Amino acid sequence: MIVIIDFGSQFNQLIARRVRECRVYCQIEPPTITADQIRSLSPEGIILSGGPSSIYEANSPRVDAGIFKLGIPVLGICYGMHFMVDSLGGKVKQATKREYGFAALNAKSQTGLFKSIGKETVTWMSHGDSIDALPKGFAVTASTANTKVAAMTATGKKFYGVQFHPEVEHTAEGRKIIRNFLFDICGCKPSWTMKSFARETIDQIRQTVGDKKVILGLSGGVDSSVAALLIHRAIGKNLTCIFVDNGLLRKDEAAQLKRKLKSRLDINIRFVNAASKFVKALSKVTDPERKRKIIGKVFMEVFEAEAKKIKNADFLAQGTLYPDIIESQSAFGGPTSVIKSHHNVGGLPKKMKLKLVEPLKYLFKDEVRKLGKTLGLDEDLVWRQPFPGPGLAIRVIGEITKKRLDVLREVDAVLLEEIRAAGYYRKVWQSFAVLLPIKSVGIMGDGRTYENIVAIRAVTSKDAMTADWAKLPHKLLGKISNRIINEVRGVNRVVYDISSKPPSTIEWE
Ligand code: XMP
Repeated sequence: MIVIIDFGSQFNQLIARRVRECRVYCQIEPPTITADQIRSLSPEGIILSGGPSSIYEANSPRVDAGIFKLGIPVLGICYGMHFMVDSLGGKVKQATKREYGFAALNAKSQTGLFKSIGKETVTWMSHGDSIDALPKGFAVTASTANTKVAAMTATGKKFYGVQFHPEVEHTAEGRKIIRNFLFDICGCKPSWTMKSFARETIDQIRQTVGDKKVILGLSGGVDSSVAALLIHRAIGKNLTCIFVDNGLLRKDEAAQLKRKLKSRLDINIRFVNAASKFVKALSKVTDPERKRKIIGKVFMEVFEAEAKKIKNADFLAQGTLYPDIIESQSAFGGPTSVIKSHHNVGGLPKKMKLKLVEPLKYLFKDEVRKLGKTLGLDEDLVWRQPFPGPGLAIRVIGEITKKRLDVLREVDAVLLEEIRAAGYYRKVWQSFAVLLPIKSVGIMGDGRTYENIVAIRAVTSKDAMTADWAKLPHKLLGKISNRIINEVRGVNRVVYDISSKPPSTIEWE
């Protein structure tokens, strides 16, 4: 395994991804970790990430310099390289020529990190500081027009530094460089597979939980379903899942889960029908943030009441993923401004005093999907598009009533049927309908209608941070519109949302 020290770079997750793509397990750790703690993890190598600080600033992040005495190879990237230089007796200073963007890198030789790399290769830079003096024992291994020390090595010690970012796509041969570090320099083996991860995690869960009981909030999404499956494999009937039907779900959702998780996989699930409670609490509420807060609060109450019925439960399981953890602990990036309050992250009842089990906390979304597949989860569940915790409440714009929810549910069902049939369900990140709070005039048969408008939203995205509207074929859009207007009573107009994120968001509220 590889330990990545987080100096606050926006690319940290990318470093982790690149390492795991090579089938080597890695973990991102804060700089407060000690050299002894790192040793106890027995890593084959350490990667020091980049970061926004300058190493000569008073409060710049530093990790225990004892890491250089562990006899483990270290790769410093950008700020990580500056930290290495500073700790080992070299000097870093503000660069006279800052370098942002593409830079042609000339490696002195095609060995070590640069094995099989072109003599001149495109890299991506983002730095205002440069190495002024190398520590003793180090030599320059590559340069660019503006940066003399674009890469360095300490011969014999397996310490490497690069000023550019090998983890980003823009660095043409970045993957090769990372592979060289992992396999040639650290001697890692590409042995990390989902099967081995599943086996180890199931063992760990058994050890942690013993014969105690675990409660899990099941949402129907891929994360909580996979978490349920893993824990079920470990402890069987000692796991109880709670599924709260908040009345804001898509058509037949609860029934599908019953079929796919309860009947087929024999997982212990309690279904709580709290639809009327949620709809009542939301009555006359139109403000999106208030909707979210109310849904969060009612969810807690319902969940807690149900959880109390389960005797001797010591653990609460959550399908928290790695990006959630990294974002919430981001040591130097600070919290990003709250655009929408997402109530599913870390939001379960603290006062219940349950210990947490988070078996997916080191995985990325696509890895969770792979794991789900390995564990035999139904394809439909594995490939589910993300669905927000507040559900259709933030897609019924304005006032929420059972009737309006039902209209949207019907529209959504038609839309998804067509998107699936046309082979677009997995090609887009999300596809859904939004019910607008205005009516428009139409004509049906010989009569005037005055009915609802729905907007169709389909976006492509890699991680929901940015998104583009999906360029669905006109023919498909036409068919969707036609079917919705013909089949769903109360809708006489369909529009297509052609905004990207940013400046819009994916959901309308
Ligand atoms: P936005 O609308 O902020 O959405 O562009 C980004 C992604 O997050 C989902 N989303 C939520 N998920 N609880 C959730 O679990 C929420 O409150 C919530 N709001 C938005 C949204 O569907 C998209 O995938």
